[in-house]
Parts: sequence; structure tokens; C-alpha cells
Amino acid sequence: MEHYFGLAQELLQSGRAGEGSAYGADSLYDYAVQFQHDAVFYVDVARQCRGKVLDVGCGSGRMLLPLAEAGIACAGMDLSPEMLRLAAAKLDAYGYQVPLHQGDMEAFHLGERFAGIVIPYQSMMYMTSPQRRRRALQCMAAHLQPGGLLAFDFDCSEQEVGDSLPYLALQGVHPFHGHVMLQVVQTRIFADGRRLLNQINYDLTEPVRITVQASEESSCSVEEMREHLQQAGFRIVGLYQDYERTPYQAGPECVVLAEKVVEG
Ligand SMILES: C[S@@+](CC[C@H](N)C(=O)[O-])C[C@H]1O[C@@H](n2cnc3c(N)ncnc32)[C@H](O)[C@@H]1O
Repeated sequence: MEHYFGLAQELLQSGRAGEGSAYGADSLYDYAVQFQHDAVFYVDVARQCRGKVLDVGCGSGRMLLPLAEAGIACAGMDLSPEMLRLAAAKLDAYGYQVPLHQGDMEAFHLGERFAGIVIPYQSMMYMTSPQRRRRALQCMAAHLQPGGLLAFDFDCSEQEVGDSLPYLALQGVHPFHGHVMLQVVQTRIFADGRRLLNQINYDLTEPVRITVQASEESSCSVEEMREHLQQAGFRIVGLYQDYERTPYQAGPECVVLAEKVVEG
């Protein structure tokens, strides 16, 4: 699939912008994502597991840090080596030794079974087809002890097919290097729920630098996710519409708590 469209494509093709990676070394992730409103839920679930918890798609360690701070034995896994390097540096700065693995959530083999797995902040959206979502959940089941808990949130929004208007996703002074930054995002939605996200990052401090990033994501209906979970051997404990565990009725995000069914 062609990954760029609109202005991002034009900037790239005309040589006015360089290409960055959404989760690469120059990622704006830690600047753009500073919320922790989901941490109480994930730490709570992790405590309930009474054993080692794996954070899948752990990124730069946003959730590993509160898990480690709560005294929970944990490990992280992510596809991006750059995000894992950021996670290692962050955890190390706080004095925590957390095993970090590089791997793909739909095909990983850590040779270990965990008491719990968490997948915070919609990382499942990178599983962009029913087949990929199924494979990922089977992989989670294979890495859980019987009775182990799986908690994740996912995008279940229904979006209008077509191109969104570009919107300002971020503006401010970068806290790490002091540059004035703008990030503009545009999405292209396809009929099967996939969407292509184009980000244009403007670093406005001289010399001005523009980078573009593309990523492919997908939403998934609550019904479809429910079926995948059951087929992968999970019992659904709760489907919530927020981190306060309000039973899911409507909304763009669904929070899942499921238990791996005891085998035999
Ligand atoms: C939205 S970020 C969430 C990061 C972290 N969980 C958090 O809560 O801040 C998505 C993460 O998923 C990772 N990711 C994307 N595709 C993946 C895959 N196939 N397997 C494992 N990780 C993946 C990205 O590298 C990125 O770190």
C-alpha cells in the first residue's frame, strides 16, 4: 500500500521533508503521550495476577515504570528497538532492572509463561486484519499461565471512510531539546476499518526541519474482539468503556479484562 497521501506525500516527493518513523529514534512519543489515567487500572490488574507481568507493545516504558514502582515483577516487549532503548534508559534512571525483549506481538516466543499480560494504549491497533488479531491473541494465550489475566484497550470506533481534515495533534516547546514543534495529522480511513495515519512534524527552530511519518492502524468491533478472545481460549471477565470499569455500552475505546481458561 502507498503509505503517504496529500501534503505528506507532496513534501516527501519534493524533498522538502525527510521520512521519520513513528516509533524511531526521533520519535515525539514521550513528548506527545504524557497521560497516566490508565495506570491505576493496569497496576491494579497486575497486582491481581500475583506473578510476573508482560507488557506487550511496551514502547518507551510508559506503563512499565508505574508497574515497577508498584513492586510488580514485570518484563516488556516491543517491535521497535528504539522504543526499547528509551524504555531501558527510563527504567534505569529510576533504578529498575526490567527485562526487555524485541518481538512482534503476533509471532513471539519468549520461552516463558506469565501470570499476566497487559497491552496498554491501543497497541493492538497495529494488528490490522482479523487474522493478525487472532494470531496476536493466540500468542498471548501461549505466554500465559492457566488462569492468567490479559488486559488491554483497543480502538472500537466506527469512522467515516475517506480522508479526514488535517488536525493539529501537538504544539509546544519540546521539553528535551527546547525546539518549537508542531505536529499535524491526517488520516485516510478504509471500508474494512484500516486507517493510514500521516503525521507531519514541523521543527520550527532554525534550521527548520520537516519530517513525515506514516503508520497503518485498524479499529475492531467489540463483537469481533469478543469472538477472537473466546477462540483463543479466554474467558471474558469484563468489557469496559473506561478505566473505572464501567461496563461497555458505547464509545470509541473498549477496555478488556480476560482470563486464560484453565487447560484440561
Ligand atoms: C501507541 S504505542 C503504546 C506504547 C505503550 N504501550 C504505552 O502505553 O505508552 C504502540 C507501541 O506498539 C509497538 N508495536 C507496534 N507494532 C507492534 C508489533 N507488531 N509487535 C509489538 N509491538 C508493536 C510500537 O513500537 C509502540 O511502541
